[in-house]
Amino acid sequence: DANAMWGGRFTAGPAEVMEQINASISFDQRLYAQDIAGSKAHCAMLVEQAIISPEDGAAILSGLDTILSEIENGSFTFKASLEDIHMNIEARLRELVGEAAGRLHTARSRNDQVALDVRLWTRAAVERLEAAVGGLQAALIAQAEAEADSIMPGYTHLQAAQPVTFGHHMMAYVEMLGRDRGRLRDCRARMNESPLGAAALAGTSFPIDRQATAKALGFDRPMANSIDAVSDRDYVLEFLSTGAILTIHLSRFAEELVLWCSAGFRFVQLSDAFTTGSSIMPQKRNPDAAELIRGKAGRVIGALNSLLIVMKGLPLSYGKDMQEDKEPLFDAADTLQLCVTAMTGMVQDMTADRTALRQATDHGFITATDLADWLVRRLGLPFRQAHHVTGSIVRLAEERGCALAALPLSEMQAVEAGINEEIFEVLSVEKAVASRDSHGGTAPAQVRQAIAAAKERFQ
Ligand code: ARG
Repeated sequence: DANAMWGGRFTAGPAEVMEQINASISFDQRLYAQDIAGSKAHCAMLVEQAIISPEDGAAILSGLDTILSEIENGSFTFKASLEDIHMNIEARLRELVGEAAGRLHTARSRNDQVALDVRLWTRAAVERLEAAVGGLQAALIAQAEAEADSIMPGYTHLQAAQPVTFGHHMMAYVEMLGRDRGRLRDCRARMNESPLGAAALAGTSFPIDRQATAKALGFDRPMANSIDAVSDRDYVLEFLSTGAILTIHLSRFAEELVLWCSAGFRFVQLSDAFTTGSSIMPQKRNPDAAELIRGKAGRVIGALNSLLIVMKGLPLSYGKDMQEDKEPLFDAADTLQLCVTAMTGMVQDMTADRTALRQATDHGFITATDLADWLVRRLGLPFRQAHHVTGSIVRLAEERGCALAALPLSEMQAVEAGINEEIFEVLSVEKAVASRDSHGGTAPAQVRQAIAAAKERFQ
């Protein structure tokens, strides 16, 4: 049979495969709360503007409330023959309140309806995620506080570079996540305009009040252009872009955790709650949660790519292609929320191994820069020359297989006569770390200041 919602000009129903390709209800039922909230705001406005009668309005509003509870208690039956969440709800409304249900869609189209629903859903997802990222920052800050003095190698090229503290390293992620939260807030602010009232694409001849519906739904204002309102999904793209950057931050940290629990490092221990065993190798303790966070970055980046490709080349205004926005959006939002939450638990539970961290700084001549800086400061050597002299001393230590601080003074003096006992002070990693107290540097005093500032900025 022809469709009850739009079948007036049709004599036959759709092919089975047409229904299959066309129906979105299997996934867009997640928009039910937003759809109902939007319909209620629209209905109240129609009554206020005397476009529909108060009696019809009251019937519609109570019917929508009934539907909301039916969906939430699981008694609602979603039908693929009714395509999407919008028509499933409207069809049920007709069963509940009869004739009046047909007046709800006055001055509205599914085009502005879906644009509204997705916008409301995305706005809530952004808020949820932003709060969760704040929780992860708090967990990292707590670790940084506990480990502000714990010395470890800092790396470039994954080669030991200069000693830093574990707390400083944690605070690097706190900063990155702070920018992720800023991007989420920016995208929330930009998306917070209402498409409702754009109708199919051109606006409507009914005397609607777009300001009123925008206000009722928590938007700052109605969108200025009706064609734009039904055409664009840039707010979804912006959320996914922001999410893709966030997922990369999570993935880099996850990668470090995987490395850090391996035998070559042993920098941290993850709790039983966030690791798994092997069914064959009894000694194993695998950092699966971290690996999955690293792996799931692929889904989030994939979601962004999917929607970019869907939107590219679409002529204005609405095209059914845009129905393909929802699955990537939902999947990415779920994945991000899950990853941030799992990462938070992992960070809360993890223990830094201070001995292993400190011991790792005994290799790799990690205070070579301090030696060079000393030659500049005390002997007045140009840095390039100091760099060269230090390189020769490093080669000596390498040949002897010992740390820089274990070289006899006489050997260093053979390279550069001006070197004296004082050099052993700067060769200690503790001194090296404490000396880097420039703003944003790794000295424990700076890290503590950064922690205090972060608590102000991020909580
Ligand atoms: N399910 C559709 C979507 O997700 C709703 C809008 C349909 N509009 C239309 N004119 N067919 O985009």
